[in-house]
Amino acid sequence: MRLWEPEPGWLNSASYGIPPGTAFEALQDALAEWRHGVTGWDEWDRSTNRAREAFARLVGVAGEDVAVGASAAQLLAPVAASLPAGSRVVVPDIEQTSNLFPWLVNDLDVVTVPPAEVAGAIDGRTDAVAFSLVQSATGEVAAIDEVVAAAREHGALLVADATQAVGGCRSTRPGSLCWRCRPTSG
Ligand SMILES: Cc1ncc(COP(=O)(O)O)c(C=O)c1O
Repeated sequence: MRLWEPEPGWLNSASYGIPPGTAFEALQDALAEWRHGVTGWDEWDRSTNRAREAFARLVGVAGEDVAVGASAAQLLAPVAASLPAGSRVVVPDIEQTSNLFPWLVNDLDVVTVPPAEVAGAIDGRTDAVAFSLVQSATGEVAAIDEVVAAAREHGALLVADATQAVGGCRSTRPGSLCWRCRPTSG
């Protein structure tokens, strides 16, 4: 089976990843099972865990450190909601909305700065820094070492969105989709 069957010239993988044939077939099988009620939850749960373990191997972390959810915003929302009211969160001013709105809708002091100034904006008042390793709008690569060092120095929570970076950047760890053949609302 040819794994990928794009229309010739299709290069829009930053917007949504097209599925390999194996993933497409597995999805059709799951939809058929769901439609006809031929299985329980168990196998769907097991396949989710197989995907969790495979992703963990891909990015070099333990499977139990990988959370599975429907979207980046959904997974970040409880993190944002867990911060005490008034906490200061530094975010790049061009950040993708899924890593911006979860902070803005809570009672937090969100400070936005140009991506190149994120590390310098982290100080003793900073409780968290949330940024993309690679900006979806511009392709700008974050100064990860400087941001991590500043966050560690000041004890700030570090939230790195690696959606556009996993597969392309050496120092990536957390979740990804666009270059990993998953559909996305973008
Ligand atoms: C940097 C970044 N974060 C997150 C997402 C997707 O977020 P969500 O899963 O909340 O739709 C995208 C999609 O393009 C993205 O580029």
